[in-house]
Amino acid sequence: MLQELYQPHPEIAQNAAIKSMEEYHALMAKANEDYEGFWGDYAREKIDWFKPFDTVLNESEAPFYKWFEGGELNVAYQCLGRHLATKKNKAAIIFEGDNGDQRVLTYRELYYEVNKTANMFRNQFDIKKGDRVVLYMPMIPEAAISMLACAKLGAIHSVVFGGFSAEALRDRIIDAEAKLVVTADGAFRKGQPYMLKPVVDEALSYGCECVKNVCVVERNGEEIHWEAGRDYAYLELIKNESVKCEPEIVESEHPLFLLYTSGSTGKPKGVQHSSAGYILWAQMTMEWVFDLKENDTYWCTADVGWITGHTYIVYGPLAAGATTVMFEGVPTYPDAGRCWKMVEEYQINQFYTAPTAIRLLHKMGEDEPDKYDLSSLRILGTVGEPIDPPAWKWYYEKIGDSKCAIVDTYWQTETGGHVITPLPGATPIKPACATLPLPGIIAKVLDAEGKPAAPGEQGLMCITKPWPSMIRNIWGDPQRFVKSYFGDCSVDGKAVYFTGDGAIVDENGYITITGRTDDVINVSGHRMGTAEVEAAIKKHPNVAAVAVVGKPHPIKGEGIFAYVVLKSEDTIAEEMSMVQEINEVIKKEIGAIALCDSMIFVPDLPKTRSGKIMRRILRALARGEEITQDTSTLEDPSIVERIKNCCKSAGI
Ligand code: WT7
Repeated sequence: MLQELYQPHPEIAQNAAIKSMEEYHALMAKANEDYEGFWGDYAREKIDWFKPFDTVLNESEAPFYKWFEGGELNVAYQCLGRHLATKKNKAAIIFEGDNGDQRVLTYRELYYEVNKTANMFRNQFDIKKGDRVVLYMPMIPEAAISMLACAKLGAIHSVVFGGFSAEALRDRIIDAEAKLVVTADGAFRKGQPYMLKPVVDEALSYGCECVKNVCVVERNGEEIHWEAGRDYAYLELIKNESVKCEPEIVESEHPLFLLYTSGSTGKPKGVQHSSAGYILWAQMTMEWVFDLKENDTYWCTADVGWITGHTYIVYGPLAAGATTVMFEGVPTYPDAGRCWKMVEEYQINQFYTAPTAIRLLHKMGEDEPDKYDLSSLRILGTVGEPIDPPAWKWYYEKIGDSKCAIVDTYWQTETGGHVITPLPGATPIKPACATLPLPGIIAKVLDAEGKPAAPGEQGLMCITKPWPSMIRNIWGDPQRFVKSYFGDCSVDGKAVYFTGDGAIVDENGYITITGRTDDVINVSGHRMGTAEVEAAIKKHPNVAAVAVVGKPHPIKGEGIFAYVVLKSEDTIAEEMSMVQEINEVIKKEIGAIALCDSMIFVPDLPKTRSGKIMRRILRALARGEEITQDTSTLEDPSIVERIKNCCKSAGI
């Protein structure tokens, strides 16, 4: 284990927004003494308000917190319009296609495109403030343009990751009651075209009465089906729209977007974010955590279908006036040097990716970085799961030449932006540790009684005060919102936000995230609910019962491991085809991202007498660990031995 602390590099510290631990502690002290003053000052300074707010924080309906009440703004104006005076010719988005296509949009050009698109949404599809628009898009500038066009009109977008299946897309469309779907014919991946529009057609064929129109961007030029009166070509429509568009001024709490994410039970939840609080923190964390400077080129490799793409490809960078790179392809095509080639070519200053990508690039191309000039890099970011020390070390030494700051940013779809992370000019870094809460974020590792956990002891990662960019609701299900996030932990009788993660704090207060404590698996930095995968597998007619657990995976972090009980006693040969069939069902119900890494067929599941599946036993067996739990409470204790034998014969 690497235990030494890496001090911030003096050149980074000198010019950083927060330059030392003294400054960090002073900011934290200010937040602790005068929480509302702290946030109110930043909100006044950072946001271009159309009408100033009256109150900073309204807790009267906790946990439905309201920030900056009375204030009015427009998020597209915050991201584009207000920058025209100083940055109209600066690159806002640099797009690189899978096939090497390049396209640069300046702030002025992006502003015009967004205005035309917003006018088109309003004039052709009657999109108004509060309407929901689903975006099922590849990683092309039109994804960002559509998001910002919604923001311009006060419409609420819900981006659905392009890897989700038609069924998953339909569920999200229906839950949000979307009026319009914006998609593309498809895009390119590893040199090949892939399709999106057919998935939208299929989703809508399952019955989505709410959807009136589909707007289709052309990207790969492949043949697609056009439904007369419903489907329209984006380019045709925006041709005649004006580049001028008045922003719809909205109140601070007006929902900016919904983003569906997995929970431990039931169907995905539509995480609802606000306008003012969200954009404030997206912008501030860009400045604090990524040490953004005027001439920097910033690249986050995420997909806009996830929160990382929302906050750190689109909203944060543009609100902060940065140049943000958008990449359509994958890091390993045409080879494992693709990212490093792009870093050299665009002279990237901040590079932000996930541990799974770092591990993959390390494994596939250990010496690839040597072929490129990576000296422009200053900040390296990681997000999505705990990063392991070997990956950290390779990232730090090989990619960062031991002179970059690594920011291990811990946050979630629900937190809107970073909450626990090193500050590049201030925080001495402990490898593979998210370190300390950002100023203004009151995060605590608590024990079951709501007391701070002792150093070295596993506790629950909580945020004990509301913060501006926090989730506001679960779309259409306020009770689930309260129960999911404010049902588990309380301090002095007051419910506090629980992240669902376990954590350990050391004697310096440094926080190491240990992973989810609920039935959520983290596959390649993406959240997957075991209940969702189980529900999909159960749709196969020959499946009697199933339990899904996470198992450590060398590249993905965690892989999906399924124990399946079949209805008929099948032969080995039939089991082989069952694996395929079940995977087909998963693909159809959720998408390829939820495919199982291992599937074994067992005679039964370990259940207690009350019928509860003992997942801890299944987790241990999947990892090949000895069973330390008491199995005497099981309905049939002999099942453990029998499952063990199944694992053994499957080579696990
Ligand atoms: C879950 C949130 C936040 C954007 C990407 C995922 C895990 C996230 C870290 C980190 C350890 C991390 C947590 C969290 N996680 N970042 N730096 N170190 N764990 O967003 O899909 O909402 O998942 O990802 O388990 O709860 P998400």
